[in-house]
Amino acid sequence: VQTVTAPVADAAPAGRLTIVYGSQTGNAKRLAEQLARQSEAAGLPVRLLRADAYPTRELKDERTLYLVISTQGDGDPPDDARALVDFIAGKRAPELKQLRYAVLGLGDSSYPQFCAIGQRLDARLAELGATRLLPRADADLDLETIAEPWVAQALAKAKEALKPAAPLATVTPLRPLQATPLHGRDAPFAAELLANQRITARGSVKDVRHVELSLEGSGLHYEPGDALGLWPVNPPALVEAILRTGELDADVVVEHGGQRLPLRQWLGEKRELTKLARPFVASHAAQSRSEELNGLLAPDRQPALAKLLNEAQVLDLLRRYPASWSPDELVAALRPLTPRLYSIASSQKHVGDEVHLTVAHVEYDDGDGLRWGAASNHFARSEEGARLPVFIEHNERFRLPADASRDVIMIGPGTGVAPFRAFVQERAAVGATGRNWLFFGNPHFRSDFLYQVEWQQALKDGSLHRFDLAFSRDQAHKVYVQDRVIERGRDLFGWLEGGAHLYVCGDATRMAKDVHAALLSVIAEHGGKSAEDADDYLNTLQQQGRYARDVY
Ligand code: 2AM
Repeated sequence: VQTVTAPVADAAPAGRLTIVYGSQTGNAKRLAEQLARQSEAAGLPVRLLRADAYPTRELKDERTLYLVISTQGDGDPPDDARALVDFIAGKRAPELKQLRYAVLGLGDSSYPQFCAIGQRLDARLAELGATRLLPRADADLDLETIAEPWVAQALAKAKEALKPAAPLATVTPLRPLQATPLHGRDAPFAAELLANQRITARGSVKDVRHVELSLEGSGLHYEPGDALGLWPVNPPALVEAILRTGELDADVVVEHGGQRLPLRQWLGEKRELTKLARPFVASHAAQSRSEELNGLLAPDRQPALAKLLNEAQVLDLLRRYPASWSPDELVAALRPLTPRLYSIASSQKHVGDEVHLTVAHVEYDDGDGLRWGAASNHFARSEEGARLPVFIEHNERFRLPADASRDVIMIGPGTGVAPFRAFVQERAAVGATGRNWLFFGNPHFRSDFLYQVEWQQALKDGSLHRFDLAFSRDQAHKVYVQDRVIERGRDLFGWLEGGAHLYVCGDATRMAKDVHAALLSVIAEHGGKSAEDADDYLNTLQQQGRYARDVY
């Protein structure tokens, strides 16, 4: 499904609300859908569009527009909104005096570029002459605090601005956006852990787990490309260390946001401890009265703050800058815990009621004791038979071609290989006739060749056609997947010209950017194109849904 559009094309722009979303992990999409549904229930003619389905030529006639858009960690727009952001930010953007609008920005406040895209669009639309219907909000990963109140306000404003144009009964209803399953983000399913095996050998620098969970009885369904959400429980040892460091009583009952729970449970299940965000640094700076920490919040110290957010956790701050937090204040100052998403590594056609994941266990010692990632540690310390709260997060932008005779090229180093295990399983299960080409990389052949036996089997039985490997540390110089992409450039371009779909999954900050650059150079070289034409070529593939990325 490329777009979710309400059939209100006949409603004149003047009486119509347009909601456009750009979403990487699904939060912006969910909020936009919620706003659309509520607007429709209020009798407003509304159309809902994913950013890459928005016809930019219509912007000059648009009267009422809500934009719900996220920012990726390093300040980039989500893939589906790149073209729209470029259009609005660019020189060709029209004057927009007729437009009333509002922007909801989403992001992760543990990154310095928090909500940068929303901010940029909000400022640019004003510059083009449009009028704000309500102020922009910059919402963090937890949606309750800022995003949901903004949606409620946006609805109220839209009702004021657009008197229902037609009696309720004649408004064509939005088609059901999604069947509402029993279990979802807010009502997770307690899935039984069936298997939890380390698949990197001893001696590897990485601890990667193959995890299998049972969805039996949940009614949950997923497609290759979807993600599994897990509501993690923080590492108990970390909770204890925080209680000790802050000299806090674990059993004291804290009331916050209508919930009354012992402090230990707040810290274990409800609050973000393994990621640090600016708002907490600011609260802790005030609480500790540390000059050093306060200094880091100054505008000219951005790089130092970014480094701290990236490298430190809540416990580090408590240790380095002692402060006396009361339990109530601490709970209020910490961010709500949010679920972690993992690309699903299995096809339901192949594994039935199960769901498989490839999880890198994040654990490191910074010299000050062990530190963990919340969800990967939750998996790592769970025994078979344990129950974990999970839900399915659909990802319509990362889908196998509907036409099974198309070829697919998959680039997935490290745990980025996960969705491609699902793809290969699915293509075998449906008897796809298109060819499958996988690029995989990791440090060492001997210790880090994830799913080696399965890939060899797939090559043998004809469900995998080409396989290129980049073991980065098995020789004197580093070799990465993008080096293989360049080496195989001629064939790869041939596949693309033949209609192949291209997928990249894994690290966003370095790998996906380098692979993107490698693809551009392959297209330029083997297609005889200028850098600009190669860029257009890749953008067109992306718009056609033939170049999709699942990067984090
Ligand atoms: P390295 O750690 O040896 O540098 C999965 O993590 C694999 O991705 C590893 O082999 C890792 O290599 C490699 N990797 C690191 N940086 C990369 C980059 N910029 N592009 C592609 N692969 C990269």
